[in-house]
Amino acid sequence: MKRFLCMLWLEEVSSTQDYLKDKMSLNCVVVARTQRLGRGRYGRFWHSDMGGLYFSFSLKESFKDEQALPLVLSLSVCQLLEDYGFFASIKWINDVYLKGKKICGILVEKVKDRIIAGIGLNVNQENFPEGLQATSMLLVSGRKYDTIEVLFRLLKKIDRNLDLLKERGFGDFREDIKKRLLFLGEEVILQTDPPTVGILTDLSPEGQIILLTAEGEKRVISGDITLRGTILS
Ligand code: BTN
Repeated sequence: MKRFLCMLWLEEVSSTQDYLKDKMSLNCVVVARTQRLGRGRYGRFWHSDMGGLYFSFSLKESFKDEQALPLVLSLSVCQLLEDYGFFASIKWINDVYLKGKKICGILVEKVKDRIIAGIGLNVNQENFPEGLQATSMLLVSGRKYDTIEVLFRLLKKIDRNLDLLKERGFGDFREDIKKRLLFLGEEVILQTDPPTVGILTDLSPEGQIILLTAEGEKRVISGDITLRGTILS
């Protein structure tokens, strides 16, 4: 792996994402065993109990179709989980689901010319707060995993996929992501104000979802979708 040049292991931190935002360190991976204020998109709280894998990394590189980075990272997580025998799905644009529950969340932020990406993967947690539709590798398989091994295997996949994205763009990932995409062909609600309802018909060559709405076709590159009529979010 040539991309990740340093690694910092913390017992506890407020958020690996914020830690890296404050430091200027590049190509650095910051891992924490727990986070006090782990966060997700739209300022949501990311539950970070012991047993999960929480890390962020910073890069100063440009990628073709950079807006599709969360999808490429989601695919890397799916590929990793497949190596462990799980078949996971991607909820556009940055979530990974297993058996109808969230197993991983991804946060990609741009700070000036730096990309800071954070990944929270539920590995060995035995339970989650009530009301949270979350699962872990342990809860699904009944066995414990070596978090360090999981991290290194994931970083390897990310490194390779980022090389591909850089050289060839999102097009090369499209089919692999479509195969794992949740809600394809189904009616979804995009959380706009007011909400947009449409059928998720396709994924564009740049990573946008294509929605067929009452007003015609809409292409969207960021946002949050839920299946119409469910509470999966
Ligand atoms: C989401 O589901 O919206 C994204 C969740 C991202 C959580 C990870 S855990 C490591 C890194 N540090 C944070 O505070 N957030 C990300």
